[in-house]
Amino acid sequence: MRKMGAERVQNFPLYSKKRTGRQFGQRINVPKPKILVMKKTALITGASSGIGAATARALAELGYNLVITGRRTNRLKSLNDELEEKYHVKVHVLGFDIQDRFQTQSALDGLPETFRHLDLLINNAGLAAGLEHIDEGDWRDWESMIDTNIKGLLCVSRIVSQWMIDQHIKGHIINMGSIAGTQAYENGAVYCATKHAVHALSQGMRMDLLKHGIKVTEIRPGMVETEFSIVRFHGDKDRADKVYEGIEPLTGEDIARIIAWIVTLPEHVNINDIEVMPARQANAFLTYRD
Ligand SMILES: NC(=O)c1ccc[n+]([C@@H]2O[C@H](COP(=O)([O-])OP(=O)(O)OC[C@H]3O[C@@H](n4cnc5c(N)ncnc54)[C@H](OP(=O)(O)O)[C@@H]3O)[C@@H](O)[C@H]2O)c1
Repeated sequence: MRKMGAERVQNFPLYSKKRTGRQFGQRINVPKPKILVMKKTALITGASSGIGAATARALAELGYNLVITGRRTNRLKSLNDELEEKYHVKVHVLGFDIQDRFQTQSALDGLPETFRHLDLLINNAGLAAGLEHIDEGDWRDWESMIDTNIKGLLCVSRIVSQWMIDQHIKGHIINMGSIAGTQAYENGAVYCATKHAVHALSQGMRMDLLKHGIKVTEIRPGMVETEFSIVRFHGDKDRADKVYEGIEPLTGEDIARIIAWIVTLPEHVNINDIEVMPARQANAFLTYRD
């Protein structure tokens, strides 16, 4: 039996084994199976905005207890209050900079025991910084993308997959890739390289974790309107708004709905990867705008 925390309850239909000696045709008084719903726990990186925050809401609605992470702890705390009040789930806020592996390790080490039994990890924290040709790129932008999108994802995955294995949890890891993970585009070489890394890591992790029954899914969205472009353009909101002009982009909720579908599929089914775009977008290069 899987090792369980205090929070965890097991599906335990209770059937009476008592023989009744009843006659043929006699009405049987079968006690209703008492089914206790098993609470699952998910950790979402980058839950302070956009896709991560929407996913936290969708998973809370499904009854997941949650660990929500990011640097902006004020936002995480108000999300915590909202989710606990609306969905009656348990939420734990972890504030850390995922670029720093020592900070990440110590934040995860400090998780209370009840939140360490993770069934689901959503590796979502990430960013694009800058949009320039390779000869004009800013080294700090490149470092923040590499340290967050690749090294941050690796650090959290290393720790959480080990926990899942040690506790014999048949868990699920969902990596937030991008269409930039299979298509490179002009001015985006380094962001595309980090998401190509996420694509390769997802395939490799799926093989490495196969024997432990841990599923790995990669989601590759096209254009989603979140704070993504504001971050990419270093706070220039007008420039960010132009990205979505004349097109109806995806929303964080669209991606969250897909995640909710993926995690409610039967245990023997895995979506390896999924590419999703606005209807008005064909690929990383071509959109049809009003
Ligand atoms: N929006 C799109 O068009 C799009 C398309 C394809 C893929 N994606 C991917 O989707 C994921 C989520 O992005 P989003 O669109 O939802 O953007 P977003 O609204 O900017 O959210 C990004 C999240 O990542 C967290 N994060 C960033 N750097 C971090 C760091 N150093 N340490 C800890 N957390 C960090 C942010 O939290 P804090 O700032 O509070 O730390 C925030 O919660 C990213 O991996 C992105 O590459 C987005």
